[in-house]
Amino acid sequence: MLNSHAGVNRIRNERLLAWVDEVAALCRPDSIYWCDGSAEEAARLCEQMVETGTLIRLNPETRPNCFLARSDPNDVARVEDRTFICSRSEQDAGPTNNWVDPEEMRATLRGLFSGCMRGRTLYVVPFSMGPLGSRISHLGVEITDSPYVAVSMRIMTRMGQQALDALGAHGSFVPCVHSVGRPLAPGERDVAWPCNDTKYITHFPETREVWSFGSGYGGNALLGKKCFALRIASVMAREQDWLAEHMLIVGVESPSGAKTYVCAAFPSACGKTNFAMLVPPPEGFAGWKVTTIGDDIAWIKPKNGRFYAINPEAGYFGVAPGTSMRSNPNAMLMLRENCIFTNVALTDEDDVWWEGMTEQPPAHLIDWTGRDWTPGCGRPAAHPNSRFTAPATQCPSMDPEWENPEGVPISAFVFGGRVAKNFPLVFQAFNWDHGVYLAATMGSEATAAAVGQAAMRRDPMAMLPFCGYHIADYWQHWLNIGLQDAATPPRIFRVNWFRKDDEGRFIWPGFGENMRVLKWIIDRCHGHAIGVESPLGWVPEYGELNWAGLDFPREKFHGIMEINRAQARTEVREQGEWFAKLGSRLPREMEAERQCFQSRVERSPEVWSLRSVEG
Ligand code: OXD
Ligand code: MN
Repeated sequence: MLNSHAGVNRIRNERLLAWVDEVAALCRPDSIYWCDGSAEEAARLCEQMVETGTLIRLNPETRPNCFLARSDPNDVARVEDRTFICSRSEQDAGPTNNWVDPEEMRATLRGLFSGCMRGRTLYVVPFSMGPLGSRISHLGVEITDSPYVAVSMRIMTRMGQQALDALGAHGSFVPCVHSVGRPLAPGERDVAWPCNDTKYITHFPETREVWSFGSGYGGNALLGKKCFALRIASVMAREQDWLAEHMLIVGVESPSGAKTYVCAAFPSACGKTNFAMLVPPPEGFAGWKVTTIGDDIAWIKPKNGRFYAINPEAGYFGVAPGTSMRSNPNAMLMLRENCIFTNVALTDEDDVWWEGMTEQPPAHLIDWTGRDWTPGCGRPAAHPNSRFTAPATQCPSMDPEWENPEGVPISAFVFGGRVAKNFPLVFQAFNWDHGVYLAATMGSEATAAAVGQAAMRRDPMAMLPFCGYHIADYWQHWLNIGLQDAATPPRIFRVNWFRKDDEGRFIWPGFGENMRVLKWIIDRCHGHAIGVESPLGWVPEYGELNWAGLDFPREKFHGIMEINRAQARTEVREQGEWFAKLGSRLPREMEAERQCFQSRVERSPEVWSLRSVEG
């Protein structure tokens, strides 16, 4: 076996060397290649993939250094039903995770990984989650047999020599093993997107390892993201008193230059990237600026009574459909060069297109499956979960502090479900425990990755598929961390952009207009908005939001803020059923908060409305 350290300087970490040898002995690749993370290396790997048909080079004039990948049609999303938390005790994984005994899973994986890299190169991909040298960052090393994963990891993380240097001789790392699960017989021609119908995305929380088999796609394969930065990191965070959250991070700068940072958790496919790159409305917000720190994951550590957050990632793996100059101009500008697109459509000019990118679709495209496409043919041109992979540095709204190793101080946590009825546009928790309860009970509609689920599912803190341990223990951790070391934990808010009117139309325009809500949140954090007490929490009066430039009359606002008692009763009852599923580990504060909510609902009128307060 050819073991090439060509790109990287001498590797001094004995544990890393021994682990690579051990995995190579199991997987039996033809060769081993250590990634240095350089631009030359990425260019070489991309060129190789163009030759093998894995990548299509896009028009160098209009999309320089950009590529399109088309996945196997059966490998297009995260596979939650094939995702496992293999803790020693089943109870520790809890009822919301798939669990398999670790010894049993190891035996299964040994079988699957044995010889699985035959005919391929094993890439060693050292990476840092978070700025190098930050007390909040952690190192990982991914072994993969996919060059697509290697080049994507270079965009999504600080990858290569810099991570190896940070590791040094004695540093520790989270080992992540990935294989597409498609060995090649001698002389066999490879397919464009190798993968295997059998898929396992497995996590060993006690030994902090990830093993992923059979998929080359996104969160299944770029193991620094969901697997390490959320599932394994959530376990580390609980042990070490910090938070690993499925949250975007934005900065809001006022005309005086004062900066307030906010973390927000939304379930998958609820527009997190758009919110993270929000452009304030032109009217009424002169001098206001929203800056981006991250769009998907936040690692948050308390220090001297404040919570500081970093974005552990270095790139954006965003959903393409719906992204346009109207919905997210910052993202569109970020996508001009050095990007990998997966499962979007190809134009006749070798550029990319997806649903929602322009009002008029092009007259002809090659769709994500490689077939001719014309408007009205009845098929989407881009897969609904098609993605872009883009370097964070290319995003025009990046905050100058985004690589600050200290992180940025967080003033608010915002949680948003996708609920058509009864949940107001925005409300603030009465206190920390109430906020944890509001986050724990949030709900949302299912995404592409949630196979076979009902249309609505509880998605506590948007972490349901990403918490590496018992979800009730996770809530207890949240309750504890609000008290500990933190004199002023962030204020907690719920938002709902997705309320619909009786005709089923969205009431709230969303996108840049969300700034109006964000501004109220900031005002509350700084004690500049008085608010009104509702059965759900503190809500804004009409006049506390800046309405300049938006026709959203008082009546309409009252409608979007209304709380219907009968529906709230159903919600209380369903929350009880949800809690009952979690058994004895449910923190007693959660049930106490539910009962307080119940009594507020019982004391409320049939329809609670701001009308009665404001007239
Ligand atoms: C994502 C997700 O891809 O949450 O970020 O599914
Ligand atoms: Mn996500």
